[in-house]
Amino acid sequence: MDNITHDTLLIIDFGSQVTQLIARRLREQNVYCEIHPYQNVTDTVLAEINPKAVILSGGPDSVTRDGSPRAPESLWTMGIPVLGICYGQQTMMMQLGGLVEGGKISGGGGTAEFGRAKVTPKGALDLLDGWFTDGDEQVWMSHGDHVSKIAPGFEVHGTSPNAPYAVLADTSRHFYGVQFHPEVHHTPRGAKLYENFVKLAGFAGDWTMDAYKDIAIEKIREQVGDKKVICGLSGGVDSSVTAALLHEAIGDQLTCVFVDHGLLRKDEGTDVIAMFRDNMNLQVIHADEADLFLGELEGQSDPETKRKIIGRLFIEVFQKYANDIEGAEFLAQGTLYPDVIESVSFSGGPSVTIKSHHNVGGLPEKMGLKLVEPLRELFKDEVRVLGHELGLPASFIGRHPFPGPGLAIRCPGEITRQKLDILREADAVYIDQIRKHGLYDEIWQAFVAILPVRTVGVMGDGRTYDFACALRAVTSVDGMTADYYPFSHDFLGETATRIINEVAGINRVTYDITSKPPGTIEWE
Ligand code: XMP
Repeated sequence: MDNITHDTLLIIDFGSQVTQLIARRLREQNVYCEIHPYQNVTDTVLAEINPKAVILSGGPDSVTRDGSPRAPESLWTMGIPVLGICYGQQTMMMQLGGLVEGGKISGGGGTAEFGRAKVTPKGALDLLDGWFTDGDEQVWMSHGDHVSKIAPGFEVHGTSPNAPYAVLADTSRHFYGVQFHPEVHHTPRGAKLYENFVKLAGFAGDWTMDAYKDIAIEKIREQVGDKKVICGLSGGVDSSVTAALLHEAIGDQLTCVFVDHGLLRKDEGTDVIAMFRDNMNLQVIHADEADLFLGELEGQSDPETKRKIIGRLFIEVFQKYANDIEGAEFLAQGTLYPDVIESVSFSGGPSVTIKSHHNVGGLPEKMGLKLVEPLRELFKDEVRVLGHELGLPASFIGRHPFPGPGLAIRCPGEITRQKLDILREADAVYIDQIRKHGLYDEIWQAFVAILPVRTVGVMGDGRTYDFACALRAVTSVDGMTADYYPFSHDFLGETATRIINEVAGINRVTYDITSKPPGTIEWE
């Protein structure tokens, strides 16, 4: 790590729920950034970090409250660019001689504002290069308080109906403040604003995921020391990258547990073991517990019951194997940033349980383990790039998501070994078809579900009475909403013929054209 030199952009975090999105926007610009909670950033710490620029995040507090968070005073005399966002803008104003008022909930001229707004430009500003090409610019506002008097040296460069000081700048000192959130998708040209900021701050933009990997490895070593770590390996992208990263950081202090519940796809178990144990030399325990899972699932046809059984057994099995790993103090998990913020959304509101998702939540407390979550700051596409840097093959990194309960939720109704075998074969043919036609990477997820219906068919001169199956393929950004994939009729016809010819036990193929909502991606 010593050979890494880079300019640092410091994000002082005032507690906004979207601070990590700022970091993401900066990584997109190949800029190295560190997020530090405001409490930790004293004048001394600031001098030690010696950033090339600083971003002050938004936050839930009110700068009008006595004792509310502030940026360190020395920030204003360092001679470096500073960008304040929402709360960050407001504290910048308060600290530099302006005023902020508590928001009224409605009415014009500086009130609380939540949601989409339009910013009207006032004169050119380097920070907003590339904006306003189609008139006013859409932004996302989420603030109660507002600036009521701007600090000396600043000028207004943008206004919105409820934020007369939507964009403020002191261009001689390179201090900028925006009332809106440029880091969220609802500010469509927000990424451009960050690009402009890092450009005017003089960043070279040479920070890469390779460098990120080195830092992540260093952090893991610091956290774990010489202790042992257990990692649940599913073969999915997140757990695979987590395991590979930990292995690179701490070698044999890591033991992975691969729980094989007998609900995996064709050759999946052997592929995962071959890849991690044989090629990458990881210590992997192959917990072959198919009999246990399939035994308890026998006769169960209710989707939630099936999910609950699998979730419970998974934890029990994992615990059993993990207990045998002497001296383990940490549990590694491939938690991604969207998992961290899942419960926090701009639209808000508690959501009902559609499906009880299977995960290992609760395990660390139960087992008295501390968590290592090296992907917590990353998004899926970034995890894939990191996986690439770690030398994982593209075929692993680009895999479609596969649910924890596995084929159980693609086998509506009762699960039998015979149905699972048929399903594995059909799924393998379908995925082979998709790959052969070069469609795999265009599709978010594709799989076969075996239906709890037998239908009559005719093959050769004989009658058949076999299972029907449904093909599913969806496009999606995050799995929350999805559209069915518009295969050509030729593709569908060819695939149906192959499945019926090559898979004994299926004599009818259907294509599921339901989007989500109203459907879900999986059948159960
Ligand atoms: P649904 O079916 O809810 O699925 O539209 C959305 C995405 O989540 C996956 N999925 C799961 N993943 N444990 C997981 O790890 C689960 O219990 C689970 N259920 C659904 C599903 O495959 C899709 O990618």
